[in-house]
Amino acid sequence: MTQPAAPRTAYDAPWWKDAVFHQIYPRSFSDSNGDGVGDLRGVIDRLGYLELLGIDALWLSPVMRSPMADHGYDVSDPRDIDPLFGSVADLDDLIREAHARHIRVTMDLVPNHTSDQHPWFQAALRAGPGSRERERYVFRDGRGPNGDEPPNNWPSVFGGPAWHRVTEADGRPGQWYLHIFAPEQPDLNWLDEEVFQDLATTLRFWLDRGVDGFRIDVAHGMAKPDGLPDMDMITNRIMDNDENDLRFNNPGVHAIHRRIRAVMDEYPGRVTVGEIWCKDNDRFAEYIRPDELHLGFNFRLAEAEWDAAEIREAIDNSLIAVEGVTGIPTWTLSNHDVEREVTRYGGGALGTARARAMILVELALPGTVFLYNGSELGLPNVDLPDEALQDPTWERSGHTERGRDGCRVPLPWQGSAPPYGFSSNESTWLPMPADWQDLTAEAELEDLDSTLTLYRTALELRRMRPEFRGDAIEWYGAPGPGLLAFRRIDGRLTCVLNASGAPVELPDGEVILSSAPLVDGLLPADAACWLA
Ligand code: GLC
Repeated sequence: MTQPAAPRTAYDAPWWKDAVFHQIYPRSFSDSNGDGVGDLRGVIDRLGYLELLGIDALWLSPVMRSPMADHGYDVSDPRDIDPLFGSVADLDDLIREAHARHIRVTMDLVPNHTSDQHPWFQAALRAGPGSRERERYVFRDGRGPNGDEPPNNWPSVFGGPAWHRVTEADGRPGQWYLHIFAPEQPDLNWLDEEVFQDLATTLRFWLDRGVDGFRIDVAHGMAKPDGLPDMDMITNRIMDNDENDLRFNNPGVHAIHRRIRAVMDEYPGRVTVGEIWCKDNDRFAEYIRPDELHLGFNFRLAEAEWDAAEIREAIDNSLIAVEGVTGIPTWTLSNHDVEREVTRYGGGALGTARARAMILVELALPGTVFLYNGSELGLPNVDLPDEALQDPTWERSGHTERGRDGCRVPLPWQGSAPPYGFSSNESTWLPMPADWQDLTAEAELEDLDSTLTLYRTALELRRMRPEFRGDAIEWYGAPGPGLLAFRRIDGRLTCVLNASGAPVELPDGEVILSSAPLVDGLLPADAACWLA
């Protein structure tokens, strides 16, 4: 086990309180062995870049052993690294080398389901109805006279029903199993004690190797309602879920988080952050009570349109959601599941300008920030040809939803043509656009006006300047329609966002950073700035 990196915050504040995490999507970060897919050695090779960027911690999307039906979110051995990404020894090296640069390393953990290739599930298929082996998953008899209708009406997040019927050993159609995601991702039965014990073993396995914490996938999943009743369906999507969505946010989930927390508490200084899609602030807060998760992802900023009122509401709600439990707010503009912000805000020069503005808004707020890999280069989503699409959503939706591949295209590092130094192999797992030569890390490092330079400067100011002190903000005066301005109460940093469509005057103060040059002292449209 290696030493965790030196804390950067005050003694009594945990290191993650104002940390900036960089989400690495390992397939797409950097490929060291020329197979066209990124890997752990690739991450090690680029640690210098991450240090230069100025982030505090990495979150690695899943690197455990997986048949990759959902690119790693289908885990067949939670205590091994998939050979596609390297080995456990490579992860040890990554942790050691990252720590030497004061960068912490967190991993994705997938407790809601396993891969259908997990030995438990294979054993469950063989063992048949009523067996101990089937108890670890959610097997049920079907409805209808021949049991040929699914046990309830739940949809899978990726389209189609959330149930799959198995063929029993005698060759006849048999029971159904629940898969809220792809059929290759059977849901575990969290009422089964062995399921928890195995997760505890997994937690300790990685914590003992020096991992600084976990991002917990579908942290609002796991628990299921008694009797698995039908639900009033609104949508299959994970993002829109509300109180009627019985697949998520069941009260039993909190007992599971308490037990996870008890294991985490054996390792002081390690963090958990849960993926929680939950619009209700009170219910969201329950996940981050002192004996549950340390942090919860709040996706409100990632969902807000380019609209000052909507952005303000997203900020207010994210703050309110943690207030009652004195939790730490979290901020994220994008991840591997949503459209990249440049595209979301309109694409092209306009989308880029707005994404640059929003990073200043995000980094001005108190709390923990999660950056998605490549956002610092201002990468847009990519329109991929049909034949390149790999997200299970594409097939499962009958080719009506294109899925998430467009935000997962490999990162451009250098040079003027694909694969831009990402790999020595021209054929990358998703094709890279021909016009990314100005968006490579190399090109942007040298360009003072690049998005990468803006990120680096912003992260450095956020780390160094006293204006970023304190936990609270206040809204600044009545700045007018399309505008938004807030101030850190203790540090007095002011952040102004101009979504009004026309240049605006700034309040008094020294401009320490602006996402676009001021014009005659005015903040242009689609820009934000910081004032000290
Ligand atoms: C989470 C992940 C997503 C994955 C799903 C199933 O929502 O972020 O990428 O497909 O869980 O594990």
